[in-house]
Amino acid sequence: MQLVTCSLITSAISVLLASSTLVSAVDPQGWYAANPGLSKIGLVNQNTHQITDVFGRVRFFHGTNVVMKQAPWYRSSNFDPPNSFGLQDVQNLQKLGVNAVRLGHHWAGAEPVRGQYNQTFLDIMKSQTQLAEDHGIYILVDVHQDVLAGQFCGHGVPNWFAQHSWVSSYKAFPVPQKLTPFAVDSNGMPTPSSVCDSIDWSLSYLTVAVCNAFGRLYNNYDNLGDSFAAYWKKLAQQYTNTTNILGYNLLNEPWVGDSYSDPTLLTPGVADHKNLEPLWNKAATQIRTVDTNKLIFFEGTTYDILSGFNNVPLGDGSRTVQSFHYYNPPQLGTIQTTIKNRIQDNVRLHTASMLTEHTMWMGDATQMANIQSAVETADTYMMSWMGWAYENLYNTTTDQPYSEIAAFYSRAYPAAVAGNPTSFFFNSTDNSFNLAYTISKNVSAPTEIILPVGTYPNGYTVSTTPASSLVQYTKDSMTLALFTADNATDGQAVTVHITKK
Ligand SMILES: *[C@@H]1O[C@H](CO)[C@@H](O)[C@H](O)[C@H]1NC(C)=O
Ligand SMILES: *[C@@H]1O[C@H](CO)[C@@H](O)[C@H](O)[C@H]1NC(C)=O
Ligand SMILES: *[C@@H]1O[C@H](CO)[C@@H](O)[C@H](O)[C@H]1NC(C)=O
Ligand SMILES: *[C@@H]1O[C@H](CO)[C@@H](O)[C@H](O)[C@H]1NC(C)=O
Ligand SMILES: *[C@@H]1O[C@H](CO)[C@@H](O)[C@H](O)[C@H]1NC(C)=O
Ligand SMILES: *[C@@H]1O[C@H](CO)[C@@H](O)[C@H](O)[C@H]1NC(C)=O
Repeated sequence: MQLVTCSLITSAISVLLASSTLVSAVDPQGWYAANPGLSKIGLVNQNTHQITDVFGRVRFFHGTNVVMKQAPWYRSSNFDPPNSFGLQDVQNLQKLGVNAVRLGHHWAGAEPVRGQYNQTFLDIMKSQTQLAEDHGIYILVDVHQDVLAGQFCGHGVPNWFAQHSWVSSYKAFPVPQKLTPFAVDSNGMPTPSSVCDSIDWSLSYLTVAVCNAFGRLYNNYDNLGDSFAAYWKKLAQQYTNTTNILGYNLLNEPWVGDSYSDPTLLTPGVADHKNLEPLWNKAATQIRTVDTNKLIFFEGTTYDILSGFNNVPLGDGSRTVQSFHYYNPPQLGTIQTTIKNRIQDNVRLHTASMLTEHTMWMGDATQMANIQSAVETADTYMMSWMGWAYENLYNTTTDQPYSEIAAFYSRAYPAAVAGNPTSFFFNSTDNSFNLAYTISKNVSAPTEIILPVGTYPNGYTVSTTPASSLVQYTKDSMTLALFTADNATDGQAVTVHITKK
């Protein structure tokens, strides 16, 4: 018996030795040949609050926003900054090192007649998503809105959603932002449309009509909340098998609801659990009938300090991400304060978060310094970020990117880490880059560092410690791959230092 066991063990060991010499030699070309294209996104690591991919790598995103806020609700494919999102656009973004786009999928474009989806529109959105995938870019599917509806000089929901008769005529939009309601046409749209230029859109959230309409979405008046959730099911069906979906962003910058009937909604955090959470659960339930695994991005109200949700949508923080924005105002503190608060939320809600909008357009010296600080701070906290917005990249006189804005996007960063990242930092003064992580031996996919060509026009020099633990491979002109060497040990700390030539 003992002898048999012993010989079994011996033969098992020899098989193991033979197979490890056979299969474990690092073969970068072979790995990429076997795994072409983007990797599907996996789960959120609920201990580290980071997003992983199906290979177990921790993933980071530097992205931008592409949202068309008027009919036909999508950007044209012919390069024409700031109005396009086509081949030249994604090529430009890829060259800058951008690996994610939060792409507006307007409900207004998708369901122009209640209950009748416009498949032509949905197909156009899907083809734009495919174009991004062909250029190494993930898509965060974003149902976008600002001030909800055209009836309120805003956009987002279809025209059939909001009824002029919902509030008494003397309280109609934009009372009390203006004391007299705007004249409206037969669809309830302010007329002439130029009257919309006379008000500040962000203050329109405080009008009776807008609060009332959000209230009806949240309390499912006339099944409007169900229609919203049904639209999400439709969207998820479009993308069930799509590789480059980063996640589903349920609704951009949701307002608190009808604060005229319930003033407590204005207290930061209250609307999150009273109004938003039930709607997010309703939409997520519909998504999960057709798509069991994609990450669901949910937002709190725009001026939250700490999140007021009792739980993430459907309660499983391994499949959710809190999507948050930083602008000042409404955020009053520094970007650092906002990120620290969101990290506190992550710990409480056992999930991850992502900065999906922050100022990224030309401005005075103070604004430019604040943008620099925002991208540096987000990177320091290993928080993925997306600038607002893609179209602001360009000087529309020349159709060329502003070099200052391009530089904010063209930072070196680790798109994928085959282990647990400890820190990374891109120094925009000398373009040096440092990454530290501990190796996970069971992750066979490589660490990938994005080194945009414009930032390293003459190439770069790499040094790693311990050098023998990582096998370097140049995947393409801007991607350095680092495969874990056979003799590296699990949990071993490694560092990567890159300087420009
Ligand atoms: C690698 O091992 C860790 C720790 O045991 C585990 O949590 C993780 O899921 C594994 N990853 C893969 C890709 O197997
Ligand atoms: C559907 O979308 C396409 C593309 O924008 C548009 O041409 C068409 O008019 C839309 N159909 C309806 C019924 O709105
Ligand atoms: C997704 O792929 C699976 C497996 O190939 C297939 O059965 C299913 O019909 C596809 N779903 C959609 C919506 O294309
Ligand atoms: C845009 O480009 C034009 C032409 O080169 C230039 O005159 C203008 O100053 C640029 N605009 C800004 C804001 O830099
Ligand atoms: C960035 O690089 C410059 C020039 O080498 C150096 O003076 C500065 O201290 C570096 N900044 C950081 C934060 O390391
Ligand atoms: C680890 O392996 C590499 C090649 O795969 C080799 O160059 C290096 O000497 C090895 N290091 C140790 C400590 O065995």
